[in-house]
Amino acid sequence: MTRLARQVVVAAAAAALAAGCSRDATSTTPATSTPMPPIKTYLTQGPFDRTPDGQSVDLITLRNQAGVEVRIMTYGATILSLKTPDRAGALDDITLGFDTFAPYVDKSPYFGAVVGRYGNRIAKGKFVLDGQTYTLATNNNANHLHGGVKGFDKRVWKADTFQNVSGVGVKLTYTSADGEEGYPGTLTADVTYTLTDKNQLIVDYHATTDKATVLNLTQHTYFNLAGGKANDILGHELMLNADRYTPVDDTLIPTGELAPVAGTPFDFRTATAIGARIGQDNEQLKRGKGYDHNWVLTRQGDGLSLAARVLEPTTGRTLEVSTTEPGIQFYSGNFLDGTITGKGGRVYPQRSGFCLETQHFPDSPNHPTFPSTVLRPGQEFKSQTVFTFGVAK
Ligand code: GLA
Repeated sequence: MTRLARQVVVAAAAAALAAGCSRDATSTTPATSTPMPPIKTYLTQGPFDRTPDGQSVDLITLRNQAGVEVRIMTYGATILSLKTPDRAGALDDITLGFDTFAPYVDKSPYFGAVVGRYGNRIAKGKFVLDGQTYTLATNNNANHLHGGVKGFDKRVWKADTFQNVSGVGVKLTYTSADGEEGYPGTLTADVTYTLTDKNQLIVDYHATTDKATVLNLTQHTYFNLAGGKANDILGHELMLNADRYTPVDDTLIPTGELAPVAGTPFDFRTATAIGARIGQDNEQLKRGKGYDHNWVLTRQGDGLSLAARVLEPTTGRTLEVSTTEPGIQFYSGNFLDGTITGKGGRVYPQRSGFCLETQHFPDSPNHPTFPSTVLRPGQEFKSQTVFTFGVAK
């Protein structure tokens, strides 16, 4: 859709709203006085702000018939907010973040962002590919984290909105230059968010490169399914479909072992409150200051497979995560420390949000036994994650 067409959609939706009328998201027919049901599904795109170096950042809003609403900005392909109903039907934003653009530039611990080129850590920012050693930017003590100093979360993506049979959506595209943050190859990546009428947010990742490189894209939304009603996420009940996880050293780099979760606080095969065992005297929990680990998903074949389920008992909100990825980083928001003031002036204490980052395993480029993260010219990287929002009665 062209910029002009998008503005028409915005204007048409606004006119319809003003007239108490409805229109389809992509309809550009002028509003009439014919009575119509209220606006349901819609998408809009418009200017949001500018980066410090003057690039314009757009805001895209997707809404479905149930009133589920996702706001996304082109900076970092970031999810700014996500409103879903609780068991009484009340909509609330279930993500952490900021009300304005500026803090996303220098205060955000990846709130809602797409992280890349490599999500999570690469030890000492070094890896060998086809006999050549590459040195990446280091930004997490001696390690490389989430793509480096200026990763994909700090880049402005190009947005194309659409409506199709599945729902309303936006495709965001970013081209990462050869050598950016130390990575080889010009990489063209796109991330498509589709909001369906089944209360699903489908995230499709796609990338190609002109030189062999490594790639691990994920979504870094911090959820709190209680919305504005709770400060911590410890009462959320979590199920992770994984028999094993990847233990880490004291810099949070996997040791290479795929350890069984059985008999440990990492066993979430049966839904368990996040807070039930987080304080246990366990070396891995101490290293992560809580949960900050990659689970090895139990899956049949390569397709979309259930990774996680979460229930927030007081509101009844549920979140289900399915993915084509082999792993999931469950991060219990341990580094939040009450120094960030977010939406509505709310201070975010430790463990006030959790992330479920579907991914390949951290530091895979240095672990030949892990599933490969290498992308070569002529290959197409494709990955899908589906977030399904529901309620338990
Ligand atoms: C990931 C990492 C954490 C932390 C957060 C962002 O989940 O594994 O250690 O860096 O991102 O703060």
